[in-house]
Amino acid sequence: MATKIPLYERFAAELQEQIEAGTFPEGSRIPALRESAEQHNLSLSTILQSYRLLETRGIIEARPQSGYYVKFRPRSRTLEADPSPAREDPTSVNIDDFSMQLFRDTQDPDFAKFGAASPDVGLLPMARLNRIVGELAREGAFDLDTSFYPEGTEALRVPIAQRAFGFGCSFGPDEVVITAGCTEALALALQATCDPGDLVAIESPTYFGILLILEALHLKALEIPTNPETGLSLEALEFALENHPVRAVIAMTNFSNPLGSCMPDANKHILVDLLARKDIPLIENDIYGELYFGERRPSVAKAYDATGNVLLCSSFSKDISPGYRLGWLAPGRWLEDVRKLKMAIGSGTSVLPQLTIARYLTSGGYDLHLRKIRRAYAQKVARMTRAIEEHFPEGTRIARPQGGYLLWVRLPAGIDSMVLYREAVKSRITIAPGSIFSPSHKHTDYVRLSAGAWSEKTEKDLARLGRIVHRLLAEGKEA
Ligand SMILES: Cc1ncc(COP(=O)(O)O)c(C=O)c1O
Repeated sequence: MATKIPLYERFAAELQEQIEAGTFPEGSRIPALRESAEQHNLSLSTILQSYRLLETRGIIEARPQSGYYVKFRPRSRTLEADPSPAREDPTSVNIDDFSMQLFRDTQDPDFAKFGAASPDVGLLPMARLNRIVGELAREGAFDLDTSFYPEGTEALRVPIAQRAFGFGCSFGPDEVVITAGCTEALALALQATCDPGDLVAIESPTYFGILLILEALHLKALEIPTNPETGLSLEALEFALENHPVRAVIAMTNFSNPLGSCMPDANKHILVDLLARKDIPLIENDIYGELYFGERRPSVAKAYDATGNVLLCSSFSKDISPGYRLGWLAPGRWLEDVRKLKMAIGSGTSVLPQLTIARYLTSGGYDLHLRKIRRAYAQKVARMTRAIEEHFPEGTRIARPQGGYLLWVRLPAGIDSMVLYREAVKSRITIAPGSIFSPSHKHTDYVRLSAGAWSEKTEKDLARLGRIVHRLLAEGKEA
């Protein structure tokens, strides 16, 4: 199965490699758009898209009337895929208390929060939401809306279906269930498709919240290797499905947590066909889908779903407000099961947040807000990447996310990220150590750092973290 990466991304990667290798030093001019197009036999628009991508990454800059120049030469090379282990065994999920400890540490206002995947509070539309709550109260909207349904209010399901239509999906509002965040959407999807003891194929590394859900539902995990650029390895998945009784697959197709990888749309199509053939449901988590850095929103696997086999989960936690606890699920052919489960465990979702977000989505300004935060996160990711390059030791490798705000970083050989966590906490800094992203505690030499927390002020904290990494490296060499 060939992995299809868009042409402009491939050319951007080639050009970045040349910049990293020093072919184009910092401050030097890179070939003009037309020149590159001719040299590489690519269209002008492909080259322009590649240059824009490198611009968002902070590597090149456009100077008016003059062309494109190298602004920053990445020092450490970009993270490469780990060689895929040929076989994986199913793992029971037993998350120790560490995830809860990390959660508590990241709530402490005194800590530099590189460990939490929280959005930048300053980028949330809180003032607008507060105004809407006032409007709704004055209109008596809550008094009128005493009826609530397990699937949530239509006022919110309609704009969700409309937006999903914009990225290739064709489910209607009646096929959407409103949930308490993406977490509940994932839990409902797993409950609807699996029974306790079943085996679920997951990405490795994966978002540790998924592991908590698997554990709570007594499900087993089968780790499937991933690629830092393209996400879930389809080859490894196919092999796993032939060798294990997998009941469901969970994948973050767009800007995974922690990798920031984006599965090419062609791969999404292959994935959907593969799972439909085998009658194994795909639980797709698209929570970061709107936070793309490129020219357009990537599609979702659900867009290729002709049989109702994909359960698409998302929420407004990353772009509007995590505190509203509002998400949604388009469960395909499990709609009735999901509605029944939702009725059983809570009779529906609180109406006030639903009406507030519904009005926010339909009253104009959401797209503008998204454009603003996409730019802001792309810049934060670029700046934090540069700062890691500057402050961390030689040998550090950094993933190159194409959206979201998370950075997956491999530490130089010999550093255990759990040891780094403990040392960092003493300095009032949190990081997310790599082993919590795997039920078998792999990825021990990785950390996930969140650029959501990035600001000029936190650069100092990152520099302090870098000094701790330098010290641990030196101590490791001495030992
Ligand atoms: C990949 C992923 N899925 C789900 C969630 C949880 O989302 P919510 O807060 O909407 O429940 C998060 C939050 O960090 C996440 O990163």
